[in-house]
Amino acid sequence: MCGIVGYAGNGDGETVLDVLMGGLSDLEYRGYDSAGVAIADEPVAVHKRSGELTALEEALPDADVGGGAAGGAGIGHTRWSTHGPPSDANAHPHTDCEEQVAVVHNGIIENYESLRSSLAARGHEFESDTDTEVVPHLIEAELAASADREAAFRRAVGRLEGSYAVAAVYAADETIYAARHESPLVLGIGEDGHYLASDVPAFIEHTDRVIYLDDGEFARVTPTSVTVTDERGTVLDADVDTIEWDAEDAGKSGYDHYMLKEIHEQPEAIRTCLRGRVEELTGSVTVEELDDLDRPRVVHLVACGTSYHAALYGARLLRERGIPAQVFLASEYDVEAIPVTDGTLVVGVTQSGETADTLSALRAANRARAETLALTNVVGSSAARECDHVMYIRAGPEISVAATKTFASQQVALAMLSSVLADESSHAFVGALRALPDQIQTVLDDSLAPEVAAAYVDADAYFFIGRGYAAPVAVEGALKMKEITYEHAEGFAAGELKHGPLALVTENTPVFSILTGDDHLGKTLGNVKEVEAREAPVIAISDAPDRVARHADFVLEVPETHRWFAPILANVQLQLVAYWTATELGRSIDKPRNLAKSVTVE
Ligand code: G6P
Repeated sequence: MCGIVGYAGNGDGETVLDVLMGGLSDLEYRGYDSAGVAIADEPVAVHKRSGELTALEEALPDADVGGGAAGGAGIGHTRWSTHGPPSDANAHPHTDCEEQVAVVHNGIIENYESLRSSLAARGHEFESDTDTEVVPHLIEAELAASADREAAFRRAVGRLEGSYAVAAVYAADETIYAARHESPLVLGIGEDGHYLASDVPAFIEHTDRVIYLDDGEFARVTPTSVTVTDERGTVLDADVDTIEWDAEDAGKSGYDHYMLKEIHEQPEAIRTCLRGRVEELTGSVTVEELDDLDRPRVVHLVACGTSYHAALYGARLLRERGIPAQVFLASEYDVEAIPVTDGTLVVGVTQSGETADTLSALRAANRARAETLALTNVVGSSAARECDHVMYIRAGPEISVAATKTFASQQVALAMLSSVLADESSHAFVGALRALPDQIQTVLDDSLAPEVAAAYVDADAYFFIGRGYAAPVAVEGALKMKEITYEHAEGFAAGELKHGPLALVTENTPVFSILTGDDHLGKTLGNVKEVEAREAPVIAISDAPDRVARHADFVLEVPETHRWFAPILANVQLQLVAYWTATELGRSIDKPRNLAKSVTVE
């Protein structure tokens, strides 16, 4: 939702401000309606602006702000509004009355109204509509009682209810104080100083050595030390992890957009997801992380957005393998209405591992004593740490707000999960999985998506249909289209088209029809004929071009594969169509309006 960055050090040739601005630009995917920085000068120097990071850049003074060559400490923030609209005043950092402390925050402080009125009654003046602004004033109030800055920070944070990752700097003090509760925060151990951020890309160009803070932990970051404590201030032994990807991986690598880069990374992402887990010779699937997981009696999958579509796909696989599986939108999951019984496995499908709705569903499942499994991309994420089991999808960092490669990796991971849970595999299954990366490469190399996008850029709306395993991919195709083009797009199970949506079909509503796999192709072709009769353009996504070409205006071809995996290939075509349509329309592809990559509020 929001991105936090902090740096204490001598910058190795860069000013503290430069380091912070670099980090913020790598975190813009977490929020981008306002941004700000605070440098620990006397008083703290705060610069903040609503709008994208460029607006803040333009507002910065020309000369080095604080912490120039001599180094220093500072914090920065990129915001996605929850309390109060985007404005300069609502942008973080926020300060106390005397500008002695500046604070950035990610999450929601649920008791901020009562805190604010009691602080206001004691003479504190507020300048923003945000929940965050209570924090510097709480610190100021605590400092009046005792001059110990660390203790004041800890006591102030102790009064917050809700979710937060929070960081503060004081005037003329090269120390950053930080705390985490239900919002991610990671520390970076560098050569020329130390870092703090909501996510690793903010400082990966400086260091790959990290410490993930746990809920309830506090950190003190100085140019020469990083200390992790509990809420009482007792120093804890923190594990230092090494990140296995680098700044190059987190950059655009020559593509115009992260989204296009990530679409093209799918072959490699899937190879990595499969690595060491499938054995072609024996036709077996082994996922080491899941060794201690028994066959569940029933599986509940909880997820949001694109991950929900992957979960729909995965549930179908589980059911076909004989394991009853139900999918829930995480925000609608209700363990009281749908009780968790002995042998229920609750799987949270979440790329980021930080989506508040999914975490809340998983926490409810944990409380109900269900066994929980996080299927996630982010090592050390909240979901990964809070579930009984974790299976990583290993897609690598995904920066574009619209999820692409993580969806493909989730599908592949869920296919392997179904195999492990049902203890069932075959040469055909493993062989088809192993062939997927090359087949995706073929789709990427030969796709007609740019032509299709150009042909229908003026359409009134876009519809997507698919049946069986292709039904969730049809819905995902529509989601991708609407997310990045802002055009009306809907996906349906092909059979449902005639039960209502057909009323919307006209000669100016192209219908993308997934026609793959012999078992369903005939029936879905019947639905395509209903569309043809209304003179709507038909774009077939098919592994059988000879059979479908005469019903279609365009055929987006996919190689033949196992019937379970054809929709994974079809989805790549739909990603490309969405991307090229958004390009034709000149949209902000990586940062679509109103959307955020990681949604950490319910
Ligand atoms: C946000 C993103 C979506 C994503 C969803 C779930 O809405 O914009 O792309 O699918 O969150 O995210 P998760 O990290 O839980 O998969």
